[in-house]
Amino acid sequence: MKKTYLKHFYGGSNQQKLCMFSKKAKVTCLVATFCAFAVWTYIFAGVSFPFIHKDRLQNQEDFLLKCIQGKSFKQKCPRDNPTTHNPTNLNNHVCPSYFRWIHEDLKPWREKGITRNMLKKAKKTAHFKLVIVDGKMYVEKYRKSIQTRDVFTLWGILQLLRLYPGKLPDLELMFDCEDKPVVPLDKFQGPNASPPPLFRYCSDQWSLDIVFPDWSFWGWAETNIKPWNNILKDIKEGNKKTKWKDRVPYAYWKGNPYVAPTRQNLLQCNVTLENDWNTLIYIQDWIQESNQGFNKSNLGDQCTHRYKIYIEGWAWSVSEKYIMACDSMTLYVKSNYHDFFIRGMVPLQHYWPIRNNSKCTSLKFAVEWGNNHTHKAQSIGEAGSKFIQEDLDMKNVYNYMFHLLNEYAKLLKFKPTIPRGAVEICPEKLMACDVIGGNKMRFMEESMVKVPSDSNPCTIPPPYEPLALEEFLGRKANSVMQVEIWEDEYWQSKNKGQ
Ligand SMILES: *[C@@H]1O[C@H](CO)[C@@H](O)[C@H](O)[C@H]1NC(C)=O
Ligand SMILES: *[C@@H]1O[C@H](CO)[C@@H](O)[C@H](O)[C@H]1NC(C)=O
Ligand SMILES: *[C@@H]1O[C@H](CO)[C@@H](O)[C@H](O)[C@H]1NC(C)=O
Ligand SMILES: *[C@@H]1O[C@H](CO)[C@@H](O)[C@H](O)[C@H]1NC(C)=O
Repeated sequence: MKKTYLKHFYGGSNQQKLCMFSKKAKVTCLVATFCAFAVWTYIFAGVSFPFIHKDRLQNQEDFLLKCIQGKSFKQKCPRDNPTTHNPTNLNNHVCPSYFRWIHEDLKPWREKGITRNMLKKAKKTAHFKLVIVDGKMYVEKYRKSIQTRDVFTLWGILQLLRLYPGKLPDLELMFDCEDKPVVPLDKFQGPNASPPPLFRYCSDQWSLDIVFPDWSFWGWAETNIKPWNNILKDIKEGNKKTKWKDRVPYAYWKGNPYVAPTRQNLLQCNVTLENDWNTLIYIQDWIQESNQGFNKSNLGDQCTHRYKIYIEGWAWSVSEKYIMACDSMTLYVKSNYHDFFIRGMVPLQHYWPIRNNSKCTSLKFAVEWGNNHTHKAQSIGEAGSKFIQEDLDMKNVYNYMFHLLNEYAKLLKFKPTIPRGAVEICPEKLMACDVIGGNKMRFMEESMVKVPSDSNPCTIPPPYEPLALEEFLGRKANSVMQVEIWEDEYWQSKNKGQ
């Protein structure tokens, strides 16, 4: 498999041969070729060469430093990658229903399309412009993003190109890596509105920002959070360790409360001698964890309670998918921000809704209800996890990206062109000598798409009929209201009894 892949993707490259036989080369040459060799080895053969194997290579940093010193070596993008996608499996299936929100997110441009002028307006806050022309990717960088958000986002899109070679249409888009949406709906209404199309990781009901999967699906290097594919495996293993019935019958949350008032407010719900809110809250100290090698933050080990709380932070929170994959019933604190998949999930089916303005009473009731109705609570937990584990597996994340970009490109009113000064980006370049720090390299290696997909992307479902969408949203709102009514009745009778 690996060999075929090598041949398929990069067969017959001179550079690879040069690298393989470079051991006797002169020192100066060695620096450069070592780097090339390392990068190529990582990219083509996983880490199976003993020379570069992690055990032997005590410190990845050393190896990367060599790369930096070898600056004269300029990584080139290969020219012999496959440019067409030839799947052998022609079975087709419809994508999960949350893909319908792609149509909703692009609706503001459905009538009049997207002009170059609109794109220009989106540049104001964008970190980069992404251009795809003839299956190749180019980037015009405007500003630095927080941490490695931009690098891993680009990495993810590159993997999409590898999964479905030649299948993405030409396009130009603006991407903003900050947290909060910035394109206010109320400023761009009416027949002459021309909102800037701006991609980011989340939006809210008052904004027109286009929602795209966040970087963490390929790894969050700074917090040691591995690529989603690997974490999902860990969590599935973790789920097997403690059966639902044997889990702690409390609500659990661990995170950084200081990013938002609503989270600080949650601290009050922690169990004390005076008040048992059925809730356990732990503070994640990222700095301490970082110093201790993150040995207490393994997400696979955090599926030990029957109930897990999700609460948004400064905006949406990356933690959502890890929490919801645990087979525990998610207690979902009402949130303002949405990522790309949560809109497909339904209260009482996939999670239990929690009030935002009276969290402790709401949590106490939820846990007590769950412990009174264990089968129902368990099945809500499992339905939520099934959604996350299946509808949100990496394949579907790529499918979502594919359809979003494909539908977006259909709206462009101009011919995408490679901007002057933009650089071509390929895995070789992102992984190459400018990558500093062990996690980055490791996560890229782990999340790399090794072979093109054997099948076509799933089929995108049609847009919601307006009435059907209203009905869907109405059903969700009713479920939340139902829980609030139960909650109020419970507390009324409890207070009367006192
Ligand atoms: C919450 O309570 C638990 C159990 O008493 C304790 O271990 C934990 O440190 C508390 N969390 C905070 C944030 O005080
Ligand atoms: C984590 O590492 C720190 C420092 O290396 C050590 O003191 C601590 O006991 C470790 N904790 C666990 C749970 O392994
Ligand atoms: C939750 O409450 C906080 C503080 O009262 C408020 O700022 C926030 O907008 C609320 N979120 C939602 C979703 O209502
Ligand atoms: C759980 O069951 C107990 C005992 O039957 C009852 O008193 C309590 O109200 C129930 N609580 C909920 C939330 O259903």
